[in-house]
Amino acid sequence: MLNWDEFHKEDGETVARATNAGHANEANMDRLDSAGGAAAQEARAVTASDSAAIIRAKAALDSLDVAEGLAELEGASARVAVDEKMMINCRADLNQLVPFKYDWAWQKYLDGCANHWMPQEVNMTADIAVWRDPEGLTDDERRIVMRNLGFFSTADSLVANNLVLAVYRLITNPECRQYILRQAFEEAIHTHAYQYCIESLGMDEGEIFNMYHEIPSVAKKAAWGLKYTRSISDPKFETGTVDTDKELLRNLIAYYCVLEGIFFYCGFTQILSMGRRNKMTGVAEQFQYILRDESMHLNFGIDVINQIKIENPHLWDAEMKEEASQMILQGTQLEIEYARDTMPRGVLGMNAAMMEDYLKFIANRRLSQIGLKEEYPGTTNPFPWMSEIMDLKKEKNFFETRVIEYQTGGALSWD
Ligand SMILES: [Fe+2]
Ligand SMILES: [Fe+2]
Repeated sequence: MLNWDEFHKEDGETVARATNAGHANEANMDRLDSAGGAAAQEARAVTASDSAAIIRAKAALDSLDVAEGLAELEGASARVAVDEKMMINCRADLNQLVPFKYDWAWQKYLDGCANHWMPQEVNMTADIAVWRDPEGLTDDERRIVMRNLGFFSTADSLVANNLVLAVYRLITNPECRQYILRQAFEEAIHTHAYQYCIESLGMDEGEIFNMYHEIPSVAKKAAWGLKYTRSISDPKFETGTVDTDKELLRNLIAYYCVLEGIFFYCGFTQILSMGRRNKMTGVAEQFQYILRDESMHLNFGIDVINQIKIENPHLWDAEMKEEASQMILQGTQLEIEYARDTMPRGVLGMNAAMMEDYLKFIANRRLSQIGLKEEYPGTTNPFPWMSEIMDLKKEKNFFETRVIEYQTGGALSWD
């Protein structure tokens, strides 16, 4: 770790600069500005050693209009007050991160960074042996691995594209944008993780990555999500009217509550169940890290949706509530169909009927998280261990476990 004492030993000039910085805090800012401005001007002066190209570059800057350049920036030019910040349609300068209004968004950004991981850190050796062994897995288990890698290998790209090409521009809050950038990178890591699994296992990459065009239960889920990206990814799309604000809200519900909040859950449960039975533990470990990230994406999305509702109560009318509820029910239905397709028979101690119960339990959670009535009364969770894996406190422990386990070259335990 560097400190100023070390600079003192090695570099007298740097020490002088550090000392000056201390005085600068007390100095008159105007005096500093004029001294700095004069020094900058001096740097612009043409010297005998300047080439023609450098002279042209300096001359070009003489005509730079700072006011014109900054006018291109979003929002006003004044210092930002916290009360001016808003989730959508905000006019305050979006490049000024602080003061924070939504501390929860910044905290999630920090938590996401603290949970950083990379797919290559996971040992895939045991999985490769099991996958190559004709007796290693049953046909039903192989189907589950193939289908889920098929669905997820492209699903995270859909989510990432939706974030960077549609949502980012329309969420007008810098701390939320900071989290969205973190989330977008995590989606890239997830796609990388699926690619890493597919490559490690020697699967037909073309077959897996094109599954969302070829397998109906996978294709339907992808198509359902894409429908909601279409309108808001148009570069001419702007929020600011009731209709367009509702369109953005629909997109957030589709992606955060349904895609990341329901469409991932059958696959996560199946693969994690495999890991708990000591099969495909490397793939399962990758999915476990991904699930931890996804549960944070989901919670962020729920907070954003609820904050938009608080700031714009007129958007959350009876029609919008009905529509949101229908979207979650449609998503649940598609995921139930996916469960049937991936589990035509009982496998790994579960079956499609149990998964249906679980998905209804999840759907009730999603409905109530955005303030809607539960639509599957009396449903219980047949897989309580899934909740434990997602529990935030456990996630922190889980992260610590991972570091220690990797140092000893082991894998996570599944009990
Ligand atoms: Fe993801
Ligand atoms: Fe995600």
